[in-house]
Amino acid sequence: MPESKLFTPVTIPTKAGKGLTLRNRVVLPPMCQYVIDKQDGVPTTWQLAHLGSMAHGGFSLVIAEATAVAAEGRISDRDAGLWNDQQVEAWKPITEYIRSHGAAAGVQLAHAGVKASTYGWLKELEDQGKVGSLSAEDGGWETFTSSAEDLYGLNPGTEMTVEQIASSVQDWSEAAKRADAAGFDLIQIHAAHGYLIHQFLSPLSNKRTDQYGGSFENRTRYLREVVQAIVKVWPEHKALGIRFSGEDWVDGGWRIADTVKIATELYEYGVRAFDLSSAGIGAFHGPTGPGYQVPLAQAVKQALPEDAFVTAVGVITDAVQAEHILVTGQADGVSVGRAALGDPQWPNRAAEQLGAQKSHPPQYWRGRW
Ligand code: FNR
Repeated sequence: MPESKLFTPVTIPTKAGKGLTLRNRVVLPPMCQYVIDKQDGVPTTWQLAHLGSMAHGGFSLVIAEATAVAAEGRISDRDAGLWNDQQVEAWKPITEYIRSHGAAAGVQLAHAGVKASTYGWLKELEDQGKVGSLSAEDGGWETFTSSAEDLYGLNPGTEMTVEQIASSVQDWSEAAKRADAAGFDLIQIHAAHGYLIHQFLSPLSNKRTDQYGGSFENRTRYLREVVQAIVKVWPEHKALGIRFSGEDWVDGGWRIADTVKIATELYEYGVRAFDLSSAGIGAFHGPTGPGYQVPLAQAVKQALPEDAFVTAVGVITDAVQAEHILVTGQADGVSVGRAALGDPQWPNRAAEQLGAQKSHPPQYWRGRW
């Protein structure tokens, strides 16, 4: 059998140093856990066990859940954060553990904007009817956004002033410094799924008339400022990535051509890892099914220089399917989310199936694959 592309190591280039080498091309995408019931954004032993098991499972890059750059930017009060030093200390043993099992540790920095202050998406809360915006009695807080459009059926957000935008950019920068101190190898900027950055990017949610709204140049200004602020503080030997919603799947919304254009600009700033998801503004209008977002990754990959690491995500569940995406040049790697929740050993099983080297802990040598 020819060598598997999925299990060929790859290096995400960095501004200085050797770059971030991944042992294979299977990435764990960020997945909110909503387990922090102390409401302090401090990760717990759950994050250690959960993310650690993904490192055991053979993932080459384990990206921690959407981690808020500011308390008000949490999707729910059970989210993780990086807005204070207590959180940094709690992340440290987690990043060390992930690395000690051969994976790189990534974190998705995030701000939910108007989609903050919800109950989070936990089955047990949904069963109690606790969905959508947190009530005031349950501790709901004021949310902030690009412009106050009602697209989500959530409590309306407050339109950010230019001063609030500047202060928010500063939050991203401080969180990036803390991500470094916490030992993360890669930051993934969350620009997808209808959260704050996407709320600025999309003409559906951004109706501002100042320098942050209107033209493509203006709608992308907040993102460009965030990226530039992070680039200034993020060590040059560490890798920088971003997750986009490549498509709103709606006429007059944020389209793949817009994503390709901004991805090309951000490459110039030093972003080298690009993960292509979709949607999140208002109701879902897109296609679904196996690999449905792969064409978005392909479009970005075609537009970027060869050394960019572009990953596809969304209903990639099977080793042969993943290998095919790479062999046909549609992406450089895959992110496998829900299938990993069902089977944290997904990469090792895929390696077995494709005749490649597994990377489980040695004490699992008698495992059945
Ligand atoms: C997610 N997803 C997600 N995306 C993101 O950018 N940040 C996040 O924190 C989360 N949180 C999250 C939690 C849970 C429980 C799920 C299932 C999903 C989306 C996720 O990263 C991925 O893009 C989708 O699940 C699609 O990929 P799969 O699951 O089809 O491989």
